[in-house]
Amino acid sequence: SNLKHLFMCLLAISIYFSAIVHLIPVSTAKNGVSSKSRKRIMPDPVTEPPVTDPVYEALLYCNIPSVAERSMEGHAPHHFKLVSVHVFIRHGDRYPLYVIPKTKRPEIDCTLVANRKPYHPKLEAFISHMSKGSGASFESPLNSLPLYPNHPLCEMGELTQTGVVQHLQNGQLLRDIYLKKHKLLPNDWSADQLYLETTGKSRTLQSGLALLYGFLPDFDWKKIYFRHQPSALFCSGSCYCPVRNQYLEKEQRRQYLLRLKNSQLEKTYGEMAKIVDVPTKQLRAANPIDSMLCHLCHNVSFPCTRNGCVDMEHFKVIKTHQIEDERERREKKLYLGYSLLGAHPILNQTIGRMQRATEGRKEELFALYSAHDVTLSPVLSALGLSEARFPRFAARLIFELWQDREKPNEHSVRILYNGVDVTFHTSFCQDHHKRSPKPMCPFENLVRFVKRDMFVALGGSSTNYYDACHREGF
Ligand SMILES: *[C@@H]1O[C@H](CO)[C@@H](O)[C@H](O)[C@H]1NC(C)=O
Ligand SMILES: *[C@@H]1O[C@H](CO)[C@@H](O)[C@H](O)[C@H]1NC(C)=O
Repeated sequence: SNLKHLFMCLLAISIYFSAIVHLIPVSTAKNGVSSKSRKRIMPDPVTEPPVTDPVYEALLYCNIPSVAERSMEGHAPHHFKLVSVHVFIRHGDRYPLYVIPKTKRPEIDCTLVANRKPYHPKLEAFISHMSKGSGASFESPLNSLPLYPNHPLCEMGELTQTGVVQHLQNGQLLRDIYLKKHKLLPNDWSADQLYLETTGKSRTLQSGLALLYGFLPDFDWKKIYFRHQPSALFCSGSCYCPVRNQYLEKEQRRQYLLRLKNSQLEKTYGEMAKIVDVPTKQLRAANPIDSMLCHLCHNVSFPCTRNGCVDMEHFKVIKTHQIEDERERREKKLYLGYSLLGAHPILNQTIGRMQRATEGRKEELFALYSAHDVTLSPVLSALGLSEARFPRFAARLIFELWQDREKPNEHSVRILYNGVDVTFHTSFCQDHHKRSPKPMCPFENLVRFVKRDMFVALGGSSTNYYDACHREGF
C-alpha cells in the first residue's frame, strides 16, 4: 500500500506539473486571494502558493526533468547588448548524504545509460566524451574526482543520471539564449572568456561539466579550467567573519526551539524511531528527510522493517515542519544577517567581474559557480529574495549584465531565478520599475548595494565588510 500511495502521489504530481505550466501566465488575481496577500506574491512559482502542500513542494524540489520550461533569460529590448553572464547553480539530483539507520538504502543506479529515463539527446555524447578523460583542466585537488557518476549502487551524495540530465538541459537552454541568440562568445572563443569555479565534491564538478557540455558549441578540454573553491560560501580569502558565525548560532538556536514546540513532529520522529528500532535522538540526527526525498524523487517506496513502514504521513509532517521553519526564518531575520555577511564576498567578486566587463574587457564573460543549497540560499536571502523557494536540485541563479547601445555608458542588470525574472523583487531594485520605463535595473544599484547598503541593512553603523564582521557587542 506504501507503493500504491506513492504511485498515486506521483500521478497527482504529473497533474501538478501540467498545472504549473498552465498557471504561470495566469495572473494572481485569478487565485482568489485577498489583495493584501496578492501584493506579496510573485507572478510565478518562485513564491509559495497561499496554501503550501508538502508533497507539491517536495516535487518541485525534485525538479524531475519533464516538459520544456518557460524561461525569461535573455529577454531585453533590441537596443540592449548582452555584456556578461554570471551563473550560480546547485548541483543536480543526488543520492542522500545520510542513511536512515537500520534500513536498506534505496537502490538507485548511478551509472549513466543513454537509453534509460530520464533521457537527454546529448547524454550519450557526454558519456563518451567524459570517459576519455580530461587532461589538466582542473585546479588541485579536483583532478582526483571522477568526471561522471559511475556506481551501479550510488555512493552517498553521488550525482545521479537525473542530476546529469538536469544540467545538460540547463546548459542547452542557456546556449540557445546566450550563444545562439545573443552571441555572448565569439566563434573563436578562448579559455579566458570563461570563469569556472566549483567546490571539491564530485557532484558539483560533474554538474558543472554537464552544464558546460550542454552549453558550449565545442567542448574542448583545452579551453576548460575549473578552479577549486574550498568554502561552500565561495568566500575565497575573506571567510573569516565572527559576526556571521554569531548570527548562524542564533539562527540554529531559533531552529531548535521551533522544533521543540512541534509536538506532532516529535511524535512522528518517535514513531519512525520505533519502526527502525533506534533511539529517537539517533533517528533525528540521521536527518531522515534527505533520504525520504530521494525515495520520493525516484519513485522508490519508503523503507519497511518487521515493525512497519515509514510512510507518506511521516513524510508530510516532517516536510510541513521544514516549510514552517523557512517561514519563521524569514520573519526572525537572523538568517538574513548571516546571509548578508555570508554572501558579500561572492557578490563583491561578481560585481568586480561585471565592472571589468563594463570597461570593455573581454575576459570572463561567462562565469559559472557550481555550488550547493547552502551557497544559493544565502545569496538569495541577501539579495532580498527571501520569498524565493529553497534551491531545488539543479537550481540556477543568473546575473545578466547589459549595455544600452543608445547610451553606451549605461549598464543594467537582470536577476533570474530558475528562469523567472526576479530583478524587481530584489531589495536594491524593488521600486525602480515604477519610476523608470526600462525593464532592467541600473548596474549602479547593485554596486551600491554590495559596497555599502548590504551593511546598512544589518542595522549597525558598519559600512564595510571588515567592520560588519567584527562588530563588538553584537
Ligand atoms: C512508480 O513505480 C510504480 C511501481 O514500481 C510504477 O507502477 C509507476 O509507474 C511508477 N510511476 C512513475 C511516475 O514512474
Ligand atoms: C571586493 O572586491 C575588491 C576588488 O573588486 C577587492 O579589492 C576587495 O578586497 C573585495 N572585498 C571583499 C571583502 O571581498
